[in-house]
Parts: sequence; C-alpha cells; structure tokens
Amino acid sequence: MDKYKSEFPPNFFWGASTASHQVEGGTHNQWTEWELMNAKELARTAHQRLDWLPGWRDVKPLAENPENYVSGRGVEHYKRYREDFDIAKSLNLNSLRFGIEWSRLEPEEGIWDEKEVEHYRTYIAELRARGIEPFLNIWHWTVPVWFEQKGGFTKKRNLKYFWRFVQKVADEYVEDLSYVITLNEPNVYTAFSHSSGQWPPQNKSKLVTLTVYMNLVRAHKRAYKILKAKKPSLMIGLASQLANIQAKRPHNVWDGLTTKIMRYAWNWWFLNRVRKYQDFVGFNYYFTDYYRHFKRDNPRVPVNDLGWYMEPEGLYPILLRVWAHYKKPIIVTENGVADAEDQFRQWWLEETVVAMEKALSEGVQIRGYFHWSLLDNFEWAYGWWPKFGLVEVDREHGMKRSVRKSAKWYAKYIKDAQNSK
Ligand code: BGC
Repeated sequence: MDKYKSEFPPNFFWGASTASHQVEGGTHNQWTEWELMNAKELARTAHQRLDWLPGWRDVKPLAENPENYVSGRGVEHYKRYREDFDIAKSLNLNSLRFGIEWSRLEPEEGIWDEKEVEHYRTYIAELRARGIEPFLNIWHWTVPVWFEQKGGFTKKRNLKYFWRFVQKVADEYVEDLSYVITLNEPNVYTAFSHSSGQWPPQNKSKLVTLTVYMNLVRAHKRAYKILKAKKPSLMIGLASQLANIQAKRPHNVWDGLTTKIMRYAWNWWFLNRVRKYQDFVGFNYYFTDYYRHFKRDNPRVPVNDLGWYMEPEGLYPILLRVWAHYKKPIIVTENGVADAEDQFRQWWLEETVVAMEKALSEGVQIRGYFHWSLLDNFEWAYGWWPKFGLVEVDREHGMKRSVRKSAKWYAKYIKDAQNSK
C-alpha cells in the first residue's frame, strides 16, 4: 500500500487553547468578585441544577463545595507557564492560544501595570523560544472591576476603554505576533450574562442582550482597525462559537424553520456583521444540536461529563458552511470534551481530525486546530470539576501536571501528519 499522505498542510497549526482567568490564578476581575459572592449559593443549588448528570455521584462532593466555585490559585499557570510550554512542546504542539488579562494590565482606570505588561512580553518570548506560535486572545469574558462598574459592554460609551486597551496590546505586543484573536464567543457571553442571566453581571434583559451584542460588534470592528494600523500583515479574527444545527426530522417544515432561524441567530448574525473585518474565520466547536419543532432534541448518548451530547464529526458540515459563507481561511480556535476519566477524548480527537481531513480534501482551507484545553481549568460557573485538559492538573497535590493518554495519542498524530509528506 502507498504510504499514507495526510491532507494537513505541513505548516498547519496544531495547538491547544487556554484563557487567562481559567488557568493563571490570582486574577482580580469582575468574575473573581462574582465567584466570591456566589460560591455558597452555587454550591447550595448544585443538586437541583446538576443531579440529572450521568456522573452526578462523582461530581457531587465538589459541586456541593463552595470552594469549587472560586478560581483562586487557578492552576498556577501564571507562575508555571514555562513548565506548561515545555509540556506543550513535548506534545508536538506548534501553537498556543492564550488570553491576556486586561485586569492585570490596567487594574485601575488608565493606569498600566508595567510589570504585568512585561510578564506577557516574556510569556510570548518564551513561546517563541520553543518554536510555538503565539495566538494572543484579547478578551475572553473577563474585564477589570472598574470597567464593569461603569456598566461594561452594556454602554456604548464604554467602548473607548476597551479600544484603549486594544491600542496598548497593539503597541506592546503586536510587533512580536502574527495572529491575534479579538473576542471569544460574543454569542455565548451575551446569552449567559444577559439573556439567561446566569453569569455576571446577571443582568437579564432582551434589550440589554441586543445592546451588548451590537456593542461587541463595534468593539471588534474598531479593534480590527487599531491592530491593522499597527501591523498590516497581522492576521486577525474572532473565536465565535458555532454549532452544527440540524433538523431532527429533515422534511418537517417546523424543524426546518427552527433550524434556519437558529443557524442565523446563533452562527451567522455576528459573523455577517464583521465579515469584512477578519482575515480568518476562527470558531469554537462543541455542539451538534437537533431541533424538533422549536426545541432542542438530541440523542441521549453519548454525553460528556457536563451532559453535553457529543458528535465530534459535526465539525465537518460546519467547516463546509463556514467556507461557503466566507471563503476565508479557517482556524478551529477551540474544541474538546469534559472527560475526567479520559474515556472519550481520544475518540473525539480521532473523529475531529477525520472531519478536518474530509473538509481539507474538498478544498476547505483550514489553517489550524486548537484543542480545548491544554490544562484542566476553571470552568466558569461550573467551577473545577469539569476536566477539559490534555494535561491533568492535581490541585490537591502541588498542582502536579500529568499528560493524559489521549494527549499522547494527539502528540503522535501530529508527528505522523507532519511526517507524512
Ligand atoms: C469557552 C471556554 C470554556 C469552554 C468549555 C468555551 O465556550 O470559550 O472558556 O471553558 O467553552 O465550556
């Protein structure tokens, strides 16, 4: 048989993703304050929210413990990032998407903490020193407390503060970068913070939801211009969350209609508005959702530890659609599973690379894939129990890092793909 030839181009970005607040430890932003205020309540109500989970018995002790809901020391990535980069390197990763924490850089309005500015400069240099391409992510849901107190993204007039921060990022770091992601999942943030009102600032209102969404469109567009003005060759994009939305019964009119509406509202609304302001289309893929009438109706299995239905191959139709819509290079900026026992991750990765290879073979330009996540991390309102890491972190025992079996599979796959030419 002929030697296997991978569809992945030799310069493909094989990476993993992280976000500052979820791993660094010692952050102080609007989420930190919210966690401290809500930890007890989240622990008290965990049972009613989560006891339907297949693994509830294992999850219960942590989910009912208020400490679970506090990001606190994180996984000490802020201190141990060099060690984490060495692990990434040992896994053959050639790129890392990481977040820059606005509240560190500008803890008080208009006052820059130069020590923190330096921290991220060294961080980028340490990635480069290992041959790992840095993908800097500007906003991943956390903001300084002072910005939140002014109303955050609910007020158009506050955007000037965000753009000033973007200008700072441009001035300090862009020279050393080729890729920047402006915003992470504006749709998810807006939905949880303002539509369902489960996340800070728990401001539940339809009008505010729309306002914030519009403001994030504005935030991105101007950020794009600021960054481009600094370095025209910079590749800039977003990390949107796109779902593979399908009709449960393909010929049913109502299922079809809901599918169309949901695809437009969830997947395309934001991206259509910024289509001229992105050099690549970056998206996070976790969900395939089937709609019956107006409701989601997914198969009961297989599900991950969070109870999310898993259909990794659903990445393929989304890749085709994104390519058809925008004809721009695609980067999968996040994708992964909550899987403490590491029983699904390798299967998920296998299906995912097949989905990407299929799309590549049909001419879809995919430039990179970033697994969520490099490390086990703080999963927002769920806290610490969901485990997304290629690398397990034992927070009870000195934050010990252990590479999961599935990560070894991923590392080998990357090597084989790179050597297959
Ligand atoms: C977010 C991450 C999160 C992951 C898993 C994505 O929506 O960008 O911050 O940890 O999903 O829930």
